Amino acid sequence: MKSRLYSPSMATISLPRLRVRVEALARFGALPGGGVTRSAWSRPHEEARAWLLDEMRTAGLEPWVDAAGNVFGGLGMRELDAARPAVLTGSHIDTVPEGGILDGALGVLAGLEALHVMKETGAAHTRPLAVAAWSDEEGRYGSLFGSRAFCGKLEVARLPEMAAADGERLVDAMAGAGFDALRAPEAQAPAGAVASYVELHIEQGPRLEEAGVPIGVVEAIVGVRRTRVIFIGQADHAGTTPMERRRDGFLAAAEFALKARDLVVKRGSGRSVTNFGVVHVHPGVSNIVPARGELVHEMREPDPAVLDRLARECAALARRVAKRRQVQVEFRPLSATLPAPCAPRVQAIIEAAAGELGLGTQRMHSAAGHDAQNLAAITDAGMIFIPSKGGRSHRVDEMSDWDAIERGANVLLRTLQALAN
Ligand code: GLV
Ligand code: MN
Ligand code: MN
Repeated sequence: MKSRLYSPSMATISLPRLRVRVEALARFGALPGGGVTRSAWSRPHEEARAWLLDEMRTAGLEPWVDAAGNVFGGLGMRELDAARPAVLTGSHIDTVPEGGILDGALGVLAGLEALHVMKETGAAHTRPLAVAAWSDEEGRYGSLFGSRAFCGKLEVARLPEMAAADGERLVDAMAGAGFDALRAPEAQAPAGAVASYVELHIEQGPRLEEAGVPIGVVEAIVGVRRTRVIFIGQADHAGTTPMERRRDGFLAAAEFALKARDLVVKRGSGRSVTNFGVVHVHPGVSNIVPARGELVHEMREPDPAVLDRLARECAALARRVAKRRQVQVEFRPLSATLPAPCAPRVQAIIEAAAGELGLGTQRMHSAAGHDAQNLAAITDAGMIFIPSKGGRSHRVDEMSDWDAIERGANVLLRTLQALAN
């Protein structure tokens, strides 16, 4: 099968070498029952960064780290230079808590492998290339932090107040890893320095596996909006206060969550999704009626107009729930990424690369956020997806078949070669 798909005259990636690196990276922050917790700037993350820099050197690449903590390995370059626009690939090495070993890691290590093969075979490239590991993609302190800095999209005034859900401030976390958060904007790439960007990623959903298609070609990446919604009622004795007099902040939050879910399903595009992954109840003891119910409301949708409308409708819904339950409601916008279309030129090159390898493709939108959505604002960007086993991701048993990984990495290699020539 392989010899039919990959003729010996074409350079191909080394799956054993890629697999060794995937398994090695998975050891940083490994959890006893499988999976990994490797938050941005944490000790396992910083150990993984040092390991990655070594691997880049071993592969014959020129490594460097920018002010936002993004790691690069250059082939024919040691810095960004508008006079010699580069082709970039990459993804991220941070993970969600209790995440899997491929989300992000695959794109970084397959990009490293592709450039390693190009280096050792002396493959021709008229443009320089680099593989990037973008910092804090998962947004412990702010979503897609490193690629936002690189693309000039950081809200500089917010840097001092940016903090993780547990209150740890970005400035402190970065200082602990030897970085000055206030200098992160210096990571912005010079205008015109990036010729194109392509990122390989696991799909993280069930569509490719269920369709039996090996390669997904991403047309657009969803916008993700996160808002803290705080319902403020009144603390009261949980035994003595008559039921009809209670102004319960948690029950208002719970009613809003259920109704917002229905609203997004009924009034969304069919691709719209929503989640309430963070809930706080204050004071949070069983014998006090909750004075506050706090939620982080997340919504995702590829069409910006639909996302805007849903956000307005959910806010109106929260106000109606609050009014009826006689509580106050406050909204604190946390982050809002815009849906990003991928470049038709990059999509066509990915399809051609897959076609040369005898691999079927399917165009699709990405329901997960990715660094490519920031890069899409400054250059022609695209994404290659491979199937995820059972559609599972952001959980410890996230996996893809090694054959699928090999196919994806070879499509990436060919796409990079086409973009660089
Ligand atoms: C990134 O992993 C996301 O949450 O979409
Ligand atoms: Mn993720
Ligand atoms: Mn990812």
